Amino acid sequence: MKLILLGPPGAGKGTQAVRLVEHFGIPQISTGDILRKAVKDGTELGTLAKKYMDKGELVPDEVVIGIIRDRLMEPDCQKGYILDGFPRTIAQAEALDEMLEKMGARIDHVVNISVADEEIIKRLTGRRTCPNCGAGYHILFDPPKKDGICDKCGTKLIQRDDDKEETIRARLEVYRRQTEPLIKYYEAKQLLRTIPGEGSMEEIFNAILKALGE
Ligand code: AP5
Repeated sequence: MKLILLGPPGAGKGTQAVRLVEHFGIPQISTGDILRKAVKDGTELGTLAKKYMDKGELVPDEVVIGIIRDRLMEPDCQKGYILDGFPRTIAQAEALDEMLEKMGARIDHVVNISVADEEIIKRLTGRRTCPNCGAGYHILFDPPKKDGICDKCGTKLIQRDDDKEETIRARLEVYRRQTEPLIKYYEAKQLLRTIPGEGSMEEIFNAILKALGE
């Protein structure tokens, strides 16, 4: 199964990817997570990416395309993968098509999770993440058992730098301008399955499975 998760920031792509990884036994490939790790490790890529991420802008296409090209060659991608946050521009989608064609592979489904802007603001301002194991929480909708502490590894939770309201609004604007056109791109290829992203995390997961014919 080769799947793309599409949707605005905060739509629940990462939340659903974790469940899909467990269901299908294939890896999640999140360009956002890869870039945040590079920032944390202080690599050259991280220094470059941080300049864009802090402003809510997209990292240049050639950089993320290179990341995905390398990642898809890894052995755990043989059976399939869940692309979370890539592609994000038409140029990225076209580069992915080219890569897959060379590999003799193709995308099976594109799941587009649709959520209204005001709900997105609520979700992202309340999101907390574990800097150690990557687990995600929400202070109201999915709180940890102990306030501010990761259930899985006991680490203090943090708020992402780009989850300030001003940056969230910039990310939404970038989404509308650069990423939303992908809906038509994948519709034309008859790969798009749009799922209403408001409801419980479980309801949305079940709706995704149904759309995938599971
Ligand atoms: P990235 O990390 O990809 O961020 P994003 O797309 O903005 O998506 P998010 O991670 O914010 O949201 P999500 O949809 O995963 O929501 P989540 O499940 O966490 O990208 C960050 C930056 O990296 C970009 O701005 C860019 O600079 C750069 N970048 C990354 N990829 C790139 C690319 N391809 N090209 C160029 N640049 C790139 O859920 C959000 C919150 O809501 C959580 O707290 C969760 O608990 C809660 N929640 C989830 N579902 C529900 C529900 N059903 N009900 C209530 N709460 C819910």
